[in-house]
Formats: sequence, C-alpha cells, structure tokens
Amino acid sequence: MDSVTVRVPAKVNLQLAVGPLRDDGYHDLVNVFHAVSIFDEVTATAKVGMSVRVEGESADQVPEDGENLAIKAAFALAGHAGRSYGVNLLIRKSIPVAGGMAGGSADAAAALVACNELWGLGLPLEDLMEIAADIGSDVPFALLGGTAVGTGRGERLTPLKVEGDFHWVFALADGGLSTATVYAECDRLREATGERVAWPRAAEPLLAALREGDAETLGAELRNDLQPAAVMLRGSLARTLKAGREHGALGSLVSGSGPTCAFLARSESHAGELAASLKDAGVARDVITAHGPVPGPVIV
Ligand code: C5P
Repeated sequence: MDSVTVRVPAKVNLQLAVGPLRDDGYHDLVNVFHAVSIFDEVTATAKVGMSVRVEGESADQVPEDGENLAIKAAFALAGHAGRSYGVNLLIRKSIPVAGGMAGGSADAAAALVACNELWGLGLPLEDLMEIAADIGSDVPFALLGGTAVGTGRGERLTPLKVEGDFHWVFALADGGLSTATVYAECDRLREATGERVAWPRAAEPLLAALREGDAETLGAELRNDLQPAAVMLRGSLARTLKAGREHGALGSLVSGSGPTCAFLARSESHAGELAASLKDAGVARDVITAHGPVPGPVIV
C-alpha cells in the first residue's frame, strides 16, 4: 500500500464549562463535543523522512513544519512503534483554521489513523487515543467522532447516544484566535470581575435534549464559558451572535475558543434560510451549513 486517505470531521462544543486554572496551566473542563459534517482530508504517502503539505481553505495559515499537529502525530506514532517510519502528509483543508472547530486536532487524528494503516501497525483505538491525548486536548475526541462528554482537560471521553440529526449554521470569521490566548483572557476576566469559579458540571437538560433529539431545548441550553473572552478579543462576534438570534436561530454560541459562531436550526431547510439571512446581514466572511453528529475519521 503506497497511500491512505482519511476524511475527518470538525467539531462544535455544545457545552464548554471551564473550571479553575490548574497547576499544569490547563483547566478542568466539562466539554460536550459534537462532530459536524465539515471535513478535512489527510493523505499519507510512504516515503523516506517526514513531511507535510497543506492545501485548500486558508492553507497559508497552517504550519508546514514540525509545529503541524498532523506531523507531530506521525512522529508520536512512529515513536510509539519504536521505528523510524517515513511519510508525506497532504492535508486538504475545509475546516476553518484556528476557528474553534478543532481543525488541527482533526488533522492529527486523521494522521494517526492513516499512518496506523499505511505502516501496518494495527494499533487499536485505545492505543491511538492515548497517543492523541499527548498531542492536544481535543485530539482524542477527533478520533472518536459522534457526540461525547470530555472531562479532565477534555481528553477523558464518554460517548453519548443522540437521537436523530441536528442542523447547524456556522459563521466563519476573518483570521483565527489562539486557544491559549482565549483561555488566558477567560482567566483575566474572571480575576477582574472576582467571579467565583465553580467546578464544571454537565448540564442535565442539555444531555436529555441530545438523548431525545429535542433541538428547541438544546438551542436554549448551548453554553460556552470561553464566549465572553472570545467576544472581548474579537468585538465583532457580538454582532454576529445577535444576528443569529434575530434571524430565528434556536441557539447561538461561539464554537470552542472561536472565532467561528455556531447557530442551531430547526431543520435542514431552516438552516438554509438562516444561512442566507446571515450572509445578507454581512456579519461573517462566509456562512456554511452542516449537520451532526457524524462519525469520526474514515478511511476513504
Ligand atoms: O491541549 P492543547 O494544546 O490543545 O491546548 C492549547 C492551550 O489551550 C493550552 O496550552 C492551554 O493554554 C489551553 N487549554 C486549557 N485548558 C484545557 C485545554 C486547553 O487551558 N482544558
């Protein structure tokens, strides 16, 4: 086998409850991840040495060196196997770059699956999940897909059963936001306002809405503790979120650390209408529709 291609979805966080800052610089979370139908593709081709190339949407903003999460994943997998394997990774981006939709984590997960196959390692998902957690907090979920609750720094996962499909609209912003900067801004705001930071808990009504396929309740329960920080760093997001509410979204929130905004619609046709209204309102660089949950990485 000379090459393996893996298709991998983006995620949106339905609840992101951020606990106190830990000694290791991370925050304990309750992070309800939901994989949606916006996909990157990663092709792993056998060669001597390791290299990565990025094509597509905002490709120029993705590093093509050792900082790239997909190549980090390839190195980590080769290290785990104790062999000096080589690979070229070609990443075709559709997931917004630094957009709060875990695009880099998705590419890392896809690289793990592709290289596991290309190099004939046959490692089970549990082993890949352990390697994934060392690459980034969101990479284990990117291997899993579907809908899941993450605890710890987001890497300890419990899959959730979800009834039916949910229909989403995503408003993409110009330029990205750094995850570390948004968490630091969240800490700064909490300090400045003297907010008492509670231990993060999963919202039971949100979990019930997912189990029952109740979009109305899910919309009302969407919550992201990083949102005030993302809006503080990117003031224009307040207008984007307001436009979604005014045009009939069941719920609106910043996705992860932003700046992508997510809007829940009643149905596929409602998502189409909402996307058209948001485009007309001129509150985003681009507006796309997607559905979730979708499965994790798939070899194509
Ligand atoms: O794990 P990952 O490398 O994706 O995290 C990027 C940054 O986001 C971390 O360096 C940290 O600043 C912040 N973070 C956090 N708490 C988490 C996850 C990420 O503070 N649970």
